[in-house]
Amino acid sequence: MNPARHLVLVGPMGAGKTSIGRCLARHFGLAFVDSDHAIEQRTGTTVTTIFDCTGEAGFRARERDTLAELLAGPAAVLATGGGAVLDAGTRRLLAASGFVVHLRADVPTQLERLARDRSRPLLASGDREATLNRLATERDPLYAEVADLVFDTRHLPAADAARQLAQQLDARWERRPCTARPTEPAA
Ligand code: S3P
Repeated sequence: MNPARHLVLVGPMGAGKTSIGRCLARHFGLAFVDSDHAIEQRTGTTVTTIFDCTGEAGFRARERDTLAELLAGPAAVLATGGGAVLDAGTRRLLAASGFVVHLRADVPTQLERLARDRSRPLLASGDREATLNRLATERDPLYAEVADLVFDTRHLPAADAARQLAQQLDARWERRPCTARPTEPAA
């Protein structure tokens, strides 16, 4: 058991963080937040434009700030971007404030699920299979470093994956209530 207020999903692009996260949020009666979407709302622009204008380093800094803000907020199911774990500060934040689930998907599954996707800047050019293999080699140890639980999403539609994962979480995730103190009455 790792008492934590938030449920945090990490894992590579195409692992199902958003679709499974939405189902889990319903199951646990929590809000669902996708960090890429939150970054786009905060900045008023798209992930692709942030990569184009500030490079990956600029995106990672915005990602860390956004996740810090979300983790300081009300309990939620948070889907992180596939590369969020690259930043050491982000890894510390996730491990400190969330029960972290690593959603796994192998490269053939990712290729199939992302076949029609044109929104991921890291897959916009070059050989997608080679890119996904390289990212997996770099990032798998980092997902393992932060994860409280690993769940393989291969061969499972999102609703089935969420149902099975929710059962495991019911046994493993000790939900910690908000620790904020109520306002002291005036003396
Ligand atoms: C990225 C994954 C994307 C998004 C950005 C970078 C990555 O999120 O944050 O395109 O580095 O793997 P998803 O994992 O939700 O696709």
